[in-house]
Formats: sequence, C-alpha cells, structure tokens
Amino acid sequence: MIIETENDVTPAVMKAMERAPDARIREIQESFVRHIHAFAKEVRLTEREWEYGIGMLNRVGTFTNDAHNEGILLSDTLGLSTLVCLMNNGASGSTETAAALLGPFWRMHSPKTQSGGSIVRSPTPGPALFASLRVLDQSGKPVPEAEVDVWHASPTGMYENQDEAQADHNLRGKFFTDAEGRFSFRSVLPAGYPIPTTGPAGEIVLYQKREPWRPAHLHFLIHKPGFKTLVTQVFVSGAKYLDCDVVFGVTKALVGDYQKHETGTPPAVDVKGTWYTLDYTFHVEPGESGLPTPPIK
Ligand code: BEZ
Ligand code: FE
Repeated sequence: MIIETENDVTPAVMKAMERAPDARIREIQESFVRHIHAFAKEVRLTEREWEYGIGMLNRVGTFTNDAHNEGILLSDTLGLSTLVCLMNNGASGSTETAAALLGPFWRMHSPKTQSGGSIVRSPTPGPALFASLRVLDQSGKPVPEAEVDVWHASPTGMYENQDEAQADHNLRGKFFTDAEGRFSFRSVLPAGYPIPTTGPAGEIVLYQKREPWRPAHLHFLIHKPGFKTLVTQVFVSGAKYLDCDVVFGVTKALVGDYQKHETGTPPAVDVKGTWYTLDYTFHVEPGESGLPTPPIK
C-alpha cells in the first residue's frame, strides 16, 4: 500500500509484517509496533525527541559489555523486569510469589561451596551473617538436591565484578540442599548500594529525581528439574530504601527477618562483636527449570 497520511503508517507496517512465520513472534512484533506508534502519536513526538531516543538506545548498547548489562538495568529501572517477573510466577501472577527480578549481576558457575561454608573470599567489611535457608515445595515437602546460587554486593557498595579490590566470586557461592531441603552459609550482612548511574538508565533515574539506591538484600537462584527456577532476593528488614527500591524489586513476602545478636556465644570463634542470623524458607512451584541467560560473564 502507498502511504498518504500519518494514519496509514501503522496499517502499512502491519501488512508488511504479516508473513512472519511464527504466530507468537508475529503477535509480539505487531503489538510492539502498534504500541510504539500509538506512543509517538500520543506525545506528538518531535524529530529532535525521536533522535534523542534513538541515541539513548544506541548508548544502552555501547555501555554494555561482558561485565555490565545496561539493557537489563534500563528494564529494571523502568519496572519492566518486575512486571514480567510477577506475571510469570505465582501461578502466572494469580497468587503471591516468592520471585523477584534477576538484576544485572548474576554470574553462572559460582564456586561450589559446602553447606555451612563461607562465601567471603577476600577481606570484606561488615558484621558476620549466618544464613539458614530451606527450600520446600508448594505442599510443604522438602526439596532435596536443589542447586542454589547465592550472590550479593559488598557493603562497600559494589559486586566483585565491579571492584578490583575483591577476589573473583567474592560473596558468590553455589549450594545444594540436603534431604530436608536445607542449606546454610556464612557471609557479611549486606548493605544498600546505588545502581550504576553513569549510563543512560542511571541518567533517566537521576533526571526523575529518584534515589538510585537498592535496599540491602541477598540474591538467590534455585534450580531443580521439575520445578520452575526461582530467582529471588531476600531484603533486610528495616533497611533504608525498602519502600523506594530503584528497581521495584521489594515485595512484602521477600522482607527477611535478619536478627541482630550482641550477646551470647557467637556461631564462630573469629566473630567479634555483633553478628546477624537469617532464617528463611523458599517455596518452589512445579514448572520449567531453565536457567536465565547470564547478564554478565
Ligand atoms: C541487583 O540487585 O543486583 C540489581 C538489580 C537491578 C539493578 C541493579 C542491581
Ligand atoms: Fe543486588
């Protein structure tokens, strides 16, 4: 068809795309084009604004490398990652879910660590944390031999891949649940940290006068054939920014009870002063046990 007015563009593109062979991919592509055209019309997008937007997209690409995923960061800060997560977990969004967004810092192949072992692999500040976790199915039965990746930022505010001062895989570990679905580890109490703000995703956040901070949390990825892979985070109760997480990851179910201990016998001889414990139970649902594509290497 030959286009005469702005109203002819969307139908012309729909027609041009109609031979895409896969019905689902066609549905997604057509919907995307319809919405992006509707968006341009709604705001009466100017040529300068369109140019700026394309530049922004290109910068998301140039900012991304093996150690940094600006695309995920943009999706996270716009709430898209949390929306997709909540739509696809908790019985496809119909019940409360234990899932949360993956974020840009999961690495595959974390070092296998014995249950009870430490994931502190180089000197790291912060009070000791002793975490005891349990993985149950929806009927409350233990899930043994589940593979669980744990990762978190150093209280200095950076993940090990962002920070030359930390050992490779510091504050990362891979555990397996025992016959009762349990595993435990030692680390340091996580602290809140700001997301990277030097790229376009951070620029948007700062422009909107938002705090670029995430509340203190641990990340978990629980994987076992027969169960939907559970990607989640457990937040520190009472942490700053719980109600304004820059990536919208906090749900009530994910606020863990991190207990502070100041008296009594510490769980390890080298613990001086205050330490923390966390007891938390995850429930996994039946489903596909695929792994996400690692955002970084
Ligand atoms: C994280 O918690 O690792 C994270 C999630 C989204 C954006 C930045 C960091
Ligand atoms: Fe994190």
